[in-house]
Amino acid sequence: MSSLRVKTLDGLELPNPFVIGSGPPGTNANVINKAFEEGWGAVIAKTVSLDASKVINVAPRYARARTPDRTVYGWQNIELISDRDFSVWEKEFKDVKNAYPDGVLIASIMEECSKDRWVELVERCEACGVDAFELNFSCPHGLPERKMGAAMGQDPEILEEVCGWVMGAAKVPVWAKMTPNITHIVDPARAALRAGCTGIAAINTILCVMGVNLETLRPEPTVEGYTVPGGYSCKAVRPIALRMVMEIATMMYGGNSGQPVQKDGTTAIAGEYPQRTISGIGGVETGDDAAQFILLGAETVQVCTGVMIHGYKLIHELNAGLEAFMEKHNFSSIEDFRGKSLEYFTTHAELVRLQADAKAAAKAAKAGMVTKDEGWEGEKFVEQTDKLVANQE
Ligand SMILES: Cc1cc2nc3c(=O)[nH]c(=O)nc-3n(C[C@H](O)[C@H](O)[C@H](O)COP(=O)(O)O)c2cc1C
Repeated sequence: MSSLRVKTLDGLELPNPFVIGSGPPGTNANVINKAFEEGWGAVIAKTVSLDASKVINVAPRYARARTPDRTVYGWQNIELISDRDFSVWEKEFKDVKNAYPDGVLIASIMEECSKDRWVELVERCEACGVDAFELNFSCPHGLPERKMGAAMGQDPEILEEVCGWVMGAAKVPVWAKMTPNITHIVDPARAALRAGCTGIAAINTILCVMGVNLETLRPEPTVEGYTVPGGYSCKAVRPIALRMVMEIATMMYGGNSGQPVQKDGTTAIAGEYPQRTISGIGGVETGDDAAQFILLGAETVQVCTGVMIHGYKLIHELNAGLEAFMEKHNFSSIEDFRGKSLEYFTTHAELVRLQADAKAAAKAAKAGMVTKDEGWEGEKFVEQTDKLVANQE
């Protein structure tokens, strides 16, 4: 019997690894309560800051990409963080914790580059009983114009300093959420861990332009004829998210990515932070999607756009799908298979070598040559010996 329960390396206990990702599905107490009612493992609320008066959203702020059969595979948003007053959030965090004391409620926070503001935000959220923090260093639009969000996440030095402020104040686990809009995602991830963050969440949305309307010649989503590049999410981003989670996990837990496969079954890269946690995000809509993030090192898996498309009941399908995967492979817990696929990355040169070795072995087998001791047969012993002689005259 498989169990979906997770006790994260930084101490959170979840009934299953599925976490509502920060965004519209965690935007007020009503919807957060709905998520707990349906059984989500944890909820990350929409990102909050101390001064919501600076947050002004526009409409329309979403654009979707569909396959010919109308399935949504890509989603752009130009939505900002929460536009609700922080005092309202303080009341709602408390209300949610009163209604669901065992529900794991994670506050997503973002502030300007000021120690006092970050510390105040941490302390006021903790006073409301939140179980953990996610630091939003990753929102790709709007906020970077104010040197927030991805603007901080793209600068490991600033990020490390801010993480240090938060870690000096926080008494609960803290995940730093990474922007994918950077060449080497391992650099900011390592900076956050160096500053003491207990986990990494990856990825936020990928900066994009969804398309241009060929009638009006205006890019979408159009607001009064104009737009800004937005954040791309949904199924289409999953392969990029998996690659980035793999890179972060290899740094944290060890693996072979970019290195030759080791002969003795160990990994070429030793993990630098084996006791910190990863939360994988990007395009998850099924239990099989989640299994792939876990195989690449994630302990928990977040879903945002998937909930916007399928609703909160998606959790039942996610749980059933992940359980079916685990039963098929006889995995009894998430820990049984977490990070199991990290050793199967290597260099391209190594792929070429492995393929050449395999071809040589196949050729030898075809010619009836014994390549392994277990291949010797009593009846054919002399014939098999002959075939191994180099000069057959
Ligand atoms: C409409 C929308 C709003 C979002 N708002 C936030 C936010 O306030 N804070 C944050 O950290 N991430 C935000 N995200 C990013 C998601 O949490 C997630 O990282 C990203 O969408 C990829 O996951 P997904 O494919 O499951 O949506 C938002 C995403 C969408 C689609």
